[in-house]
Amino acid sequence: MHFLESIVTKNINMKIKAILAMSPSGAIGDGKLLYRNKQDLSHFKNRTMGDILIMGRKTYQEAGALKGRIIIVVSSTLSSSGNPENVLIARSPLEALEKAEFMWQSVRESRKSKKSCVWVCGGKTIYDVLFHKCSEIVATRFYKEPKRKIDKGNLKKVSIPDNFERNCDVQLEDFAIVSYIKKRKAWL
Ligand SMILES: NC(=O)c1ccc[n+]([C@@H]2O[C@H](COP(=O)([O-])OP(=O)(O)OC[C@H]3O[C@@H](n4cnc5c(N)ncnc54)[C@H](OP(=O)(O)O)[C@@H]3O)[C@@H](O)[C@H]2O)c1
Repeated sequence: MHFLESIVTKNINMKIKAILAMSPSGAIGDGKLLYRNKQDLSHFKNRTMGDILIMGRKTYQEAGALKGRIIIVVSSTLSSSGNPENVLIARSPLEALEKAEFMWQSVRESRKSKKSCVWVCGGKTIYDVLFHKCSEIVATRFYKEPKRKIDKGNLKKVSIPDNFERNCDVQLEDFAIVSYIKKRKAWL
């Protein structure tokens, strides 16, 4: 086990969740978001406000320095200096978790809320590596494929790992918000 991983795994109190929006076939983007649905964007904002977000460099360059949240951007190329004050750079997903752990307690205290958590926000390179660190995946599942033309060469898809189970759904007009909870390991 990488030494950073052992540090991160020790903090059992830090809740790590993933949030994403996906098409029926599991597509999440083609260099840009596939859906620009106000209700979904507002759901994302409400769930993540005040929390710590981890995202890859490409997602950050699309989303920007989202206000009211601490953004940890995973990148080997972005400079660590000269970024907006709520943006930190990590050189790997594990370093991002370490930085999140460092900041989490103070965020929690300043919010006076036990609900605060760290959100894994994509894109594909980050979901693929960090889903297994999450206790919950909150997925916006659109009922229909996007209407706009897709750049198939850049299309990114993800799937919910088998060790997560569907917990609850909120059905809305264009999509369902589905919560997947990590299955508990059997004792024996
Ligand atoms: N539907 C959704 O919920 C959702 C959410 C987020 C993103 N998206 C979509 O996903 C797409 C972007 O995803 P993506 O997978 O192409 O890109 P990404 O994960 O956003 O960013 C990839 C970049 O992250 C950095 N990175 C990733 N792993 C790293 C590692 N181990 N060490 C160091 N740096 C690392 C690298 O940056 P450097 O090149 O700087 O080293 C890499 O080029 C877009 O279409 C976006 O719209 C969709």
